[in-house]
Amino acid sequence: METVLLDVQRLGNQAIEQAAQLLHRGEIVAFPTETVYGLGAVIWNEEAVRKIFVAKGRPLDNPLIVHIASVQMALPLVREPLDRFRLLARHFWPGPLTLVVKHRGNVPSIVTAGLPTVAIRMPDHPVALALIEKVGEPLVAPSANRSGKPSPTRAEHVVEDLAGSIAAVLDAGPTQIGIESTVLVLTTDPPRIVRPGVVTKEALEAVLGIPVEEAVPGDADRPVAPGMKYRHYAPTVPVRLFESPEELEQALQDAAEQRILVLALPQWRTRFQHSPGYRLLSEQTLYETFREADRDRWEAVWILVDEEVQRRRGLYNRILKAATS
Ligand code: TXA
Ligand code: MG
Repeated sequence: METVLLDVQRLGNQAIEQAAQLLHRGEIVAFPTETVYGLGAVIWNEEAVRKIFVAKGRPLDNPLIVHIASVQMALPLVREPLDRFRLLARHFWPGPLTLVVKHRGNVPSIVTAGLPTVAIRMPDHPVALALIEKVGEPLVAPSANRSGKPSPTRAEHVVEDLAGSIAAVLDAGPTQIGIESTVLVLTTDPPRIVRPGVVTKEALEAVLGIPVEEAVPGDADRPVAPGMKYRHYAPTVPVRLFESPEELEQALQDAAEQRILVLALPQWRTRFQHSPGYRLLSEQTLYETFREADRDRWEAVWILVDEEVQRRRGLYNRILKAATS
């Protein structure tokens, strides 16, 4: 199959119309969101949804997120809890928050992996919203990477992973946020974050007015998102974490001969920029730096995880996974 690249900058609305047509015909199409690129199919087309699992090499027991363009579009799928769902949707949508609720039994089981719950979010990206509106139905979309690769933050990453196995990629440039949405399960008491992201526990608690739990991977009593039992992406090269700049600086001096990618927050720039592998650490660029580490065969990735990094739960979570899996 030839994968068509639809450049939104160049083709404008025509790119979105073409993508919508392909989706209507049962094809799968990658599109940008504010977090990462997603690989979409129309929710009701089970054959198309199956193509997503095949193209990604994704296990069938890992459910997909349903993307909608308005709360209206989501309500026919949601059984409960309606009050908390509406409240959070009003505050955080469109935005990088996925809400897991009990569905009404009308969501195809290939989407939910047979669970009584469904994950839903409204992406904060004009192209994603225009596409869903044009199609007129919810789109299911996991991140548009091959399983085992980092989520794509540019159309080029999607092409790298999936060219030849999907119908098209809508290219709207790099994504803003760079890591996947926060996933909040609303069917438990208290509600539970099963995947941290840039929408924080504190922000959710402030709106809900009750405590929110954060699932700890490996804690059997508190299952995390179904997808999190799978080996998460980690670069092929070793990833090592440093908690203090002195420690990192010393290690770099000792390893002067090695080609090491060094990631640290912007405030450490003057301290590490003399190092040839120095890159800024941010949510937005983490995954592309991991791709670079593999592609250009760096010998190692060393990351300064200072207190601020540890506070940025979404970022820190993805770094820990890369360092330990
Ligand atoms: O930012 C994002 O969320 C991106 C963009 C494309 O929207 N999507 C994304 O999808 O990251 P994916 O499939 O890579 O991750 C979906 C996560 C998985 O960890 C999955 O297990 C979890 O959501 N999930 C889906 N349905 C669930 C459910 N019913 N209960 C708990 N977790 C669920
Ligand atoms: Mg993914």
